[in-house]
Amino acid sequence: MTMRAIAITKPGGPEVLALVERPTPEPSRGEVRVRVRATAINRADLLQRMGAYPAPADSPPDIPGLEIAGEVEALGPGVERLVIGDRVFGLVGGGGYAEQIVTHERALAKIPEGLSFEQAAAVPEAFITAHDAMVTQGGLAGGETLLVHAVGSGVGTAAVQLGRALGCFVIGTARTADKLERAKALGLGAGVLADGARFADGVRAHDPAGASVVLELVGGAYLDEDLRCTRPLGKIVLVGLLAGARHELDLALILRKRLRVMGTVLRARPLEEKITAMRIFEAQVVPMLARGLVAPVIDVVMPLDQAAQAHARMASNAGFGKIVLSV
Ligand SMILES: NC(=O)c1ccc[n+]([C@@H]2O[C@H](COP(=O)([O-])OP(=O)(O)OC[C@H]3O[C@@H](n4cnc5c(N)ncnc54)[C@H](OP(=O)(O)O)[C@@H]3O)[C@@H](O)[C@H]2O)c1
Repeated sequence: MTMRAIAITKPGGPEVLALVERPTPEPSRGEVRVRVRATAINRADLLQRMGAYPAPADSPPDIPGLEIAGEVEALGPGVERLVIGDRVFGLVGGGGYAEQIVTHERALAKIPEGLSFEQAAAVPEAFITAHDAMVTQGGLAGGETLLVHAVGSGVGTAAVQLGRALGCFVIGTARTADKLERAKALGLGAGVLADGARFADGVRAHDPAGASVVLELVGGAYLDEDLRCTRPLGKIVLVGLLAGARHELDLALILRKRLRVMGTVLRARPLEEKITAMRIFEAQVVPMLARGLVAPVIDVVMPLDQAAQAHARMASNAGFGKIVLSV
């Protein structure tokens, strides 16, 4: 038996993505095989395609895709939580751009009723990354001021809604005024246009004390500005490096304000840690999705065989929310 998948044929631009046939994978102990109905694009997929971010050892080396939604179609030995036909979504180490995938049953959660597969595929990376960084690691609590950068990004659109649902005042940045405006409908309390990576004064105009927690999706020069608009004992959680991995910082601000600056990634975590993040997501975020308190924001849905166009759209920075591939 074979399945259709999108493979990276060699390092390069979107044109190196090609539709291929691969053997249907078989689930091992504790694993299930999912008939993938939708997946979504992530920046890591673009880096992997360019040869800059190899897949972890237990994932297909040349099939990108870090999140899936679909139906359980086969069970490995010892599977206890899921049955054939369950609608599930979750994070995978790679291999999501394919009709079928095997993954550990505990790395998946059941899709709440009312969410389509395409909506569900837009959830895991955005919502687990944002919730894990802001709440589990950043200790964000109701009533605090949250600063979210790149509010029109997949992760940013999830973070704004989660912050609002938790009862926080959410300040956001974007380089595009239109994205700030659209984010207001998601619960953004105040938008600051990040002009030339300058935003600290704008943030303090909305909360003179500064943010308690910063979701840092951009990196580079943004981090130095973060130090200027984070309040004493605040936390800056570094999640993305869109503006680069190096910049000079005023370390005295970290000392004086007794700040905590932390970094995080999901993909490189061992299975046990991914399962823990999944269980926290299932307990704290899935009920919010089920009640409609938060919802995935979809920029566009494209068929699997247009993965190259989907990569080009993400690289253009034109989108608002997640780019989904229907499979
Ligand atoms: N650590 C993890 O586990 C993890 C997981 C998921 C994602 N991430 C990271 O989180 C970040 C967001 O990911 P995503 O998939 O949500 O992104 P996305 O949907 O592709 O959106 C990114 C947005 O960021 C803005 N942007 C791009 N380059 C920028 C720059 N140089 N300076 C300032 N803004 C810039 C653009 O909007 P405007 O310019 O219009 O504002 C763009 O639309 C990425 O860095 C990604 O790698 C990390």
